[in-house]
Amino acid sequence: MVLRILAALVLAATASAAAITERAQLDCFPFGTAKLPKFGHGAPKRTREDWWCSAEHQYGFMGFSYPLEDDDCSGPSNSFTQINADFKRMKKEFGSTMVRIYAPQCRDATIWKTLIRAGIANNMAVIPQIWWGFEDNQDLWMLSRTAFFSVLNDPLYGPVAPYVFHSLAFGSEPIGDFVDGGYDGFIADLNITRQMLQPYGIPISMSEDWDRAGILASDDRTSLGPVGIKIAPLMDNLQLHPMPYYHANIYPSADTTWPYFEWYMDFIARNLPGKPILITETQWASFEGGAHDRGWGNPGEDIGNFTIFWNLIQSSDHCAFWKKYRVGWFVHTFDDSQESGLGMIDDDGNVKMKFAPAKC
Ligand SMILES: *[C@@H]1O[C@H](CO)[C@@H](O)[C@H](O)[C@H]1NC(C)=O
Ligand SMILES: *[C@@H]1O[C@H](CO)[C@@H](O)[C@H](O)[C@H]1NC(C)=O
Repeated sequence: MVLRILAALVLAATASAAAITERAQLDCFPFGTAKLPKFGHGAPKRTREDWWCSAEHQYGFMGFSYPLEDDDCSGPSNSFTQINADFKRMKKEFGSTMVRIYAPQCRDATIWKTLIRAGIANNMAVIPQIWWGFEDNQDLWMLSRTAFFSVLNDPLYGPVAPYVFHSLAFGSEPIGDFVDGGYDGFIADLNITRQMLQPYGIPISMSEDWDRAGILASDDRTSLGPVGIKIAPLMDNLQLHPMPYYHANIYPSADTTWPYFEWYMDFIARNLPGKPILITETQWASFEGGAHDRGWGNPGEDIGNFTIFWNLIQSSDHCAFWKKYRVGWFVHTFDDSQESGLGMIDDDGNVKMKFAPAKC
């Protein structure tokens, strides 16, 4: 293992300059030269399959996880002005090519339309998400899905939508949150939604942590568990949540977390082979008392550990690891405005650390 990684590092070091240019020169979206037509000018004149860069080219830093947690669809954080400005900054300052939407609580068509327009304006791909939420009313997700399909059928937005939407995330930690009346109800709705999407060619996934012993993973976490076995065939790609953050008993500080990623990717490669892989959520809080505690007394919730954590993920050494497993990763989250403490950008608009993910 160590030897293989060393060999990969040497190879990566010599080949990286060429590889960067190669990927950027490909005629595909969103890592290459392909450009979305201006809004109102229809869809690219090619098949969806021919449009998207292949999973082989999907590795390293993709962009940010972007919360949209205001249920008021006309609230400022749901506006084109705000979303477009944020997408622009993601791209200009950090080189993002994709945006992963998190917890969208506006349940009408306006949000999907706005995301398409902002994606086009910045030539970026978007991963929309159907979100359950923690309200008593657990049927709200259906409003989001109805609105989503209305946009896919809209004469202005529908034709271009499959060229902006990379894939649909059916829930964020839906298994962990036991949404939709339980696992079987969720799996049935996932299956139906996947079939509904097929005419549009848009792949489906769920954003989840597969490290759930006895459920998605087996009790000893060496193979898939009973729910994982049922869900695996319905996953067109993987949107993973490796969260050493919530294992503070094993990984008390950020500098100890890397082995968890090695274990996680090995588990995925062995048990869910052949699927395109994204890490849509992994996180660290830069101060205590933010949106999410680690538990176990919250060790390491500080800017020092936050910086160490993201330096591990963005380092050029580990870029070879992401490339080896063909993993594209996102920072959860873009700023602190809706997930306090987790954002790469603080409430004054300053980047919390030197963040310039290595290219590989
Ligand atoms: C999904 O639905 C199809 C058609 O109804 C059915 O044949 C298949 O077994 C279902 N798959 C899962 C994993 O539930
Ligand atoms: C990271 O967290 C640990 C545990 O709380 C702490 O001892 C250490 O000083 C922190 N490291 C930095 C660089 O802040």
